[in-house]
Amino acid sequence: MCGIVGAVAQRNIVPILLEGLKRLEYRGYDSCGVAVNNGGLKRARSVSRVAELERQVDDSGFAGNTGIAHTRWATHGVPATNNAHPHFSARDGEQRIGLVHNGIIENYEEIRTELKALGYVFESQTDTEAIAHLVNHMYDGDLLSTVQKAVKRLHGAFAIAVFAKDEPQRIVGARLGCPLIVGLCDNENFLASDAMALAGSTDQIIYLEEGDVVDVRLDGVRIYDRDDQPVERRVQTVQAYSGAIELGPYRHYMQKEIFEQPRAISDTLEGVLGFAPDLFGPKAQDVFADIDSVLILACGTSYYSGMTAKYWLESLANLPTSVEIASEYRYRKPAVNPKALVVVISQSGETADTLAALKYAKELGHRHSLSICNVGTSAMVRETELSYLTRAGAEIGVASTKAFTTQLTALFLLTATLAKMRGKLDAEAEAFYLKSLRHLPTALQSVLALEPHIIAWSEAFARKENALFLGRGLHYPIALEGALKLKEISYIHAEAYPAGELKHGPLALVTEEMPVVTVAPNDTLIEKLKSNMQEVRARGGQLYVFADGDSQMSSSEGIHVIRLPEHYGLLSPILHVVPLQLLAYHTALARGTDVDKPRNLAKSVTVE
Ligand code: G6P
Repeated sequence: MCGIVGAVAQRNIVPILLEGLKRLEYRGYDSCGVAVNNGGLKRARSVSRVAELERQVDDSGFAGNTGIAHTRWATHGVPATNNAHPHFSARDGEQRIGLVHNGIIENYEEIRTELKALGYVFESQTDTEAIAHLVNHMYDGDLLSTVQKAVKRLHGAFAIAVFAKDEPQRIVGARLGCPLIVGLCDNENFLASDAMALAGSTDQIIYLEEGDVVDVRLDGVRIYDRDDQPVERRVQTVQAYSGAIELGPYRHYMQKEIFEQPRAISDTLEGVLGFAPDLFGPKAQDVFADIDSVLILACGTSYYSGMTAKYWLESLANLPTSVEIASEYRYRKPAVNPKALVVVISQSGETADTLAALKYAKELGHRHSLSICNVGTSAMVRETELSYLTRAGAEIGVASTKAFTTQLTALFLLTATLAKMRGKLDAEAEAFYLKSLRHLPTALQSVLALEPHIIAWSEAFARKENALFLGRGLHYPIALEGALKLKEISYIHAEAYPAGELKHGPLALVTEEMPVVTVAPNDTLIEKLKSNMQEVRARGGQLYVFADGDSQMSSSEGIHVIRLPEHYGLLSPILHVVPLQLLAYHTALARGTDVDKPRNLAKSVTVE
């Protein structure tokens, strides 16, 4: 989604801002822009990629030592140059205020009407331009006090960075509901929506808190809380990202991240010697003893990891579990059980709907919460009582891969820990599952070695416009995730069904033109699944089956089979999702789509 970078320095900051925007590209955007304050405000904007913006800037000899830049993911107003940030506001024919904004301002219509009546001219359809004019209108010669007053008029969620023509070498930032960080360096300081943007410039980072306003200058930064009182915020060294953005031998981040999964899983399991509650935080022992069920809230791929965990939590720990899409949960009136542990799952820890659902669950009276998250500094981790960090490393490809398998790993740890506490896991079973978890990275390597077979299938898939995915039981969520991956990056329409549902509707779609991908591990449902496959074959459908090495399935007329290594029991979903990721990746590659930045999608959805 939208990204912000800002810098105050003694050198030309345009290359720093553009580099920052490139590092934020993975979040998804449809236009971008950069502005400098050199005693006069100047900007360049583009509805193309950051590389195109860079060309524009190079051609015009654009430079300055104070600047703000932005990648925009359209909410109010189509992707167009006039809607791209930075937005300027003029008075007496001169541009005085420049501003970039992430988030959504709910009362912008009211502010817009008011300012239009006062003579301000709106050039865009955005909510952001209303903030720029508001700051201009309230400007009293001191940008800090102006922004402190202006943000109190705003309803909604925002992170902003603002500069004023009359105050060179100063940027003021503010956040409420959207992340904003400060980067510190000698005689140059930065603002950004994500530490990743500053990876090339500094590793000294302050994560601003809700309601903070920050005054960024050459000689340092000063932070004020929502009551305008000066506050100190902790400086953290954040290094994790620099290496993560190198592609190495891979063509795309998605491919790199698929192949990083063995490492990501072993990192996620680092320090796990047994299924002990303190893995989830010092209070976990007491919290886990006080719960009688689990409520999982998440979006997208994270929701599918939650669906998988339901099967584990109910079968192994005997804990009733419900899984809800966060954007739905936050607007309904559920029956509340305060003894249910609320588990939020999120790669980014920033997803607006999941954060809002967590807040709502607490308001409804849920006492205990746990986050499973890939970003330790995120709002979600801060706002839950317990947490478990997946150590997937920065995930850049919009289509989530290693975040999913590390979430599953963490959720299995949670399941086994709760099962053990509830007397459902004896020492022998604990040793067995620990050994299976530790062997996962090796088992994954064998699955990744199947890539050439999957490439061979992807040619056929690339010519299709529809696909069905089937799974049963524990592997139904894996079929859903496989279909999601394919539609996200190849734009092939894909649907997933529990295979038993086939004859209740989707069978009507099956012809020779319909590829049917079947997740077919050698578990107790395999015979049922084989019958479902026959239903497809009888209608001429082409089956693409991911079986296990120890199953009896082999290729025949209309049935194409790839075998994974031996069946991996309850942990099998972690292996079976990987060929589906590879199938989506190679199909998208064959169709020539923008794999890492699929159209219309964003990596972190920080607005509703
Ligand atoms: C976006 C991403 C998905 C992700 C979902 C939830 O839609 O494109 O890949 O699964 O958000 O994100 P989260 O960061 O909460 O896991």
